[in-house]
Amino acid sequence: MSSNPFYKKHYTTVDNLTRANVMYLMQRADFMLDVISNKSEHIPLKNKHAAILFYQPSTRTYTSFHAAACRLGMTVTGIQGMSAYSSAVKGETLADTIKTVYQTTGADVIVLRHPDDDSSETAAKNSYVPVINAGSGKREHPTQALLDLHTIYKNVGRIDNLNIVMVGDHLFGRTTKSLAKLLGLVGENVKVTFVAPKELQVVEEFIGELAQMGLAVELAYDLGTVLDCADVVYMTRVQKEWFEDAGRLEDYKRLKDSFILTPMLAEEMKPESIIMHPLPRTDELPPEVDTNPRARYFKQMRSGLALRMALLESILLAEVV
Ligand code: NCD
Repeated sequence: MSSNPFYKKHYTTVDNLTRANVMYLMQRADFMLDVISNKSEHIPLKNKHAAILFYQPSTRTYTSFHAAACRLGMTVTGIQGMSAYSSAVKGETLADTIKTVYQTTGADVIVLRHPDDDSSETAAKNSYVPVINAGSGKREHPTQALLDLHTIYKNVGRIDNLNIVMVGDHLFGRTTKSLAKLLGLVGENVKVTFVAPKELQVVEEFIGELAQMGLAVELAYDLGTVLDCADVVYMTRVQKEWFEDAGRLEDYKRLKDSFILTPMLAEEMKPESIIMHPLPRTDELPPEVDTNPRARYFKQMRSGLALRMALLESILLAEVV
């Protein structure tokens, strides 16, 4: 039994996390992994209700939040097509929708994915119950960062003294931003090498922010030269939808295959290193790499289920039983 730091709090960003808080969640996620694999009953959230509102497409995040809530005994109102089928189409503000959903569902927690960078802060300001950010615009994906860290912790065996290569789209993508910040906040002696085409590289201001957190940051433009000393290679896709919104599909086509982790390149990694990807993937991570013993991106999703169970439980239950 121990009290927990997440009780009744919003979880909209990694910014306020401490190492102790994160380790608390990692341990609860380990417990949930056992619950899942042993098919044991752990339903501390019976009679509680989750509203899961997604304004952007999702497979992993949506299904794992939905399953996480159900597995803990909750009932769920889950809507994946908020942008097409909710009153957003009629011009309703996010603030009004959040207040509405609380009244219409009696939700104890609201899980939100939305294309606006500040959506989860707006939701939190207008919510009577805790809000969990399941992906906000191009800025944050704080539960993905936690599940990524859990994957690293379980598969590399530590969250310190790490050399992580993050590859893909660091301009529009939110996963590498949240994970890099989280590593800067809770890890000791962590170096992140961002690999991306120049146009999709991390911006100066963000590099400064990471450096202030104590993270060692490098930028690279040749995947082949940075793989051999990596503990983790974290691949991401180039984010087509944001190019589409900006009417820049030609640029997307030009940039999308800039960095591909081919089976041959993957062999340059240390034998004990791992390959991660938040998924979905496009061509940057060919299916032929799936049989490489370093591949962890499918297992990574199971951490997502366990971690989201841990987070829901921690937010809704003062004392873990
Ligand atoms: C990511 C996202 O939505 O940001 N997907 C996910 O949640 N696993 C990554 C992506 O869409 O590229």
